[in-house]
Amino acid sequence: MPLDGPSLLNRFCIVSMFLTLVLSLAWAQSDAHNHPWSNASLSPDERASMVVQQMTLDEKISLLHGTGMEGLSPMSPLAIHSNGGAGYVVGIPRLGIPAIQMSDAAYGVRNSGENGRYSTALPADVAAAASWDLDAAHEYGALIGRELRAQGYNMSLGGGINLTREPRDGRTFEYLGEDPILAGKLVGSVMKGEQEQHVIGDIKHYALNDQESGRNAVNVNIDKRAARESDLLAFEIGLQESDAAAVMCSYNRVNGDYACENKYLLTDVLKKDWNFKGFVLTDWQGAHSMAKASAAGMDHEEPGWIFYGDDLKKAVQSGKVPAAEVDDHVHRILRSMFATGLIDNPPQKGVVDVEGGLEVAQKIAGQSTVLLKNDHAQLPLDASKIHSIAVIGPHADVGMISGGGSAQVDPPGGNAIMPPGKGQTHWQDEIWFPTSPLRAIRAKAPNANVQFDSGADPAAAAALAKTADVAIIFAYQWESEGMDLDSLSLPHHQDDLIAKVAAANPRTVIVIESGGPVTMPWVDQVSAILEAWFAGSRGAEAVANVIFGEVNPSAKLPITFPKSEADLPHPTIVKPPKATTDADKQGWKRIAAGLPAFQVTYNEGVKVGYKWYDAENKPVLFPFGYGLSYTTYSYSNLAVAPGKRPRVTFTVTNTGNRAGAEVAEVYASLPASAAEPPKRLVGWSKIKLNAGESKEVAVEIDPKYLSIFNVEQNGWQLIPGEYGFMVGGSSQDLTLKESVSLK
Ligand code: BGC
Repeated sequence: MPLDGPSLLNRFCIVSMFLTLVLSLAWAQSDAHNHPWSNASLSPDERASMVVQQMTLDEKISLLHGTGMEGLSPMSPLAIHSNGGAGYVVGIPRLGIPAIQMSDAAYGVRNSGENGRYSTALPADVAAAASWDLDAAHEYGALIGRELRAQGYNMSLGGGINLTREPRDGRTFEYLGEDPILAGKLVGSVMKGEQEQHVIGDIKHYALNDQESGRNAVNVNIDKRAARESDLLAFEIGLQESDAAAVMCSYNRVNGDYACENKYLLTDVLKKDWNFKGFVLTDWQGAHSMAKASAAGMDHEEPGWIFYGDDLKKAVQSGKVPAAEVDDHVHRILRSMFATGLIDNPPQKGVVDVEGGLEVAQKIAGQSTVLLKNDHAQLPLDASKIHSIAVIGPHADVGMISGGGSAQVDPPGGNAIMPPGKGQTHWQDEIWFPTSPLRAIRAKAPNANVQFDSGADPAAAAALAKTADVAIIFAYQWESEGMDLDSLSLPHHQDDLIAKVAAANPRTVIVIESGGPVTMPWVDQVSAILEAWFAGSRGAEAVANVIFGEVNPSAKLPITFPKSEADLPHPTIVKPPKATTDADKQGWKRIAAGLPAFQVTYNEGVKVGYKWYDAENKPVLFPFGYGLSYTTYSYSNLAVAPGKRPRVTFTVTNTGNRAGAEVAEVYASLPASAAEPPKRLVGWSKIKLNAGESKEVAVEIDPKYLSIFNVEQNGWQLIPGEYGFMVGGSSQDLTLKESVSLK
């Protein structure tokens, strides 16, 4: 029930505090561990069923919605018990069921500054994807899980996995690149890492929420086969790998129905085809109906109870919504709580291991920095031979940029470009973490004269660069939820800055801080380029380690860098007509009622990312899977053993003179009759090799990765015929090839 007015709210707060006291006493007396379902040897389903049997209808309904969020829904007075995260669901103390405290946690726990706490900012999710390292992804999730628990949360809202179909999407940094197998396996590892810490993991935004423009109104049109083989496959693999307990349905419509009331997505695919046992929660204000959404398989409404409150109760009482449907929603939530262990192992608030977290952040940043260009072995720099360095770029003296929106992690001490402590984070502000490239470079080259120029005046920056042995430019492209980029060009005249500095000093190194690809009109004028992404709490130290060779780069692009926007499947992003704007204060009412749809048609279908450029024969700036190292690798001895799970074996040799790690990639082409793009990634392995060392690598291929989705049979189908297997260090450098016949 919506409530307005401060005095009413105050009265409710007092009543609710009293109620909490009474309930806490009742809790203490009820002995949470003395229920039949407290027996941890029973299955999560058995335990959940026992609880459901004991619940009143009011208790059931209370589990099916959040308690409100200012500006997005009415607020419940009970929200004062929220831990400060994006979502709070009341518990049922008499049955020993704790509240669910949800926090956004894409690259670290959100809002910690606002709540007087501390969180580590990991490199952005897209950076983790660039590591191609399942162990690193697991560590990424585990760190987030530990910090969530220490802050009193038992559910994460991270796990963004929308494929980068549209690289100008302002949330590209929150996602895991353009390939469904890479993204799916990585999110699976992140989720495993989180859930092992007894927090519910959530994969989002289901599905096809690939642009931010008009996200509450857009209707995405795509054919089923293309959807199942691209964006949905990423979710399918992520869930299969991890048993993540929650899936967040997205804001947009898909083929006519809103994702959060889309029976095809929620029931037919997610719950039936994929046998998903967890629960579906809406994105914040993503619900648009009650009976339709419930029947379609939407289990839980966030952040409030516009549809799943009193109206749902009445609908159950009148038989409009079957009681069994509500029981299923409730069962799914309870079984997820038991399955992830948050009832048996509730969060313990505590001080997080700050130093340990920073070490993990730095290590993963080192593993995810991609060396895109390195002419004449310009990098690594040898500090003993360099007398002067010009460090150039906006705020490169104090910090590195981070990704905005609900993923935003608060920097310790506030935004680095404001006086310490004054720089609170605000929605869609550029937030700079206090990890200073200038300081990190000075630390690596203590005997060199390291000078800084912000680049505001390109001529002055070029003059400084001319006097230095090396110029290092830190360029950035900020992005955030709630917006898309107008273009992939670096903003604020940085292209001009780079061109002028490069003309003044042929030894110019560019470090890009971005959430996705940028265009590089100056690519031929500079000698070295590093893609550092949004590099997290220890980004500067990690990048300096790469620049000076303490870390040998081993990351590969999880997204193609196109030459220009004109080469994208959609040269411009379709924007919503003006009438669909939701900016006013009561906007949530209009969003809930459903904004008029506008159409986006993904007629590129399954051809996302490299599959598009391959099929259309479009040359790219840097291909998917590409990344250099300070050493070199060679590939030999390919053999493919056909069978149910084809086994691809080959040898990788480190042919250079320093140790490194190579991401060896395996692609397949399907028989012509499958009518698929020229190739798809089907597996990979990241191998550590000392100088001169060789290792035999075996990659076993899941037959689904070689299949097409047959819509008539509603299943994956391996088309009998000749399959080409290609192995190498990037999607465009596949030196080993072999064909085998599969049936
Ligand atoms: C975002 C979700 C986020 C939620 C809660 C929404 O605006 O799309 O990703 O989890 O807010 O903050």
